[in-house]
Amino acid sequence: MEPQALFNCRELIKRCTGEDYSLELLRSMPVSPTCGSLILIPTGIESQQALKENLIHGILWVMRLDAHTVRILTILVAEDHRGQGHATEAWNRFRRLAIDEGVGSVTLEVRQENEIAFDFYSRRGLVALGRLSNYYRDTFGIVMHGPLKAEDA
Ligand SMILES: CC(C)(COP(=O)(O)OP(=O)(O)OC[C@H]1O[C@@H](n2cnc3c(N)ncnc32)[C@H](O)[C@@H]1OP(=O)(O)O)[C@@H](O)C(=O)NCCC(=O)NCCS
Repeated sequence: MEPQALFNCRELIKRCTGEDYSLELLRSMPVSPTCGSLILIPTGIESQQALKENLIHGILWVMRLDAHTVRILTILVAEDHRGQGHATEAWNRFRRLAIDEGVGSVTLEVRQENEIAFDFYSRRGLVALGRLSNYYRDTFGIVMHGPLKAEDA
């Protein structure tokens, strides 16, 4: 990703999650190029242009842990675009791509007070495995895990 695009992603992540990642850390994130690199941009705009001009409305980044498991690194939608089904669509797209690659389960961390995200994952079959005390600077993290199933399974 171009430096300006990475910077724009960093600012969106900071705004949506409070996490202040360095550009180096973002650059080194092992995002899966095949099933885990989704960016929400306006329709009718070419992706490189959208990334450069800061027209990024959402991010879903995933890494492979092993042949059968992925971990969600980031999922977010910009404030003005929430509640319109974008996260659901991104999740469904990621799920189909991951299943096509042989992935069967997903794991992630969520802030314990983030009920919207916790409920979002719970309704998609993930369950809490436990709490992490040193994952986030200011709160507990809940580790969630669950199967990835085709819609009609
Ligand atoms: C969590 C988040 C990605 C959802 O994005 P979104 O595009 O608004 O989600 P959708 O419109 O697809 O809705 C997904 C579900 O959440 C529910 N939802 C969305 N906004 C909600 C709100 N303000 N209150 C309660 N439920 C809400 C929807 O009803 C929907 O329910 P469903 O699971 O029954 O389908 C978004 O709120 C966000 O970016 N939050 C900040 C970053 C974050 O917390 N990321 C998760 C980190 S682990």
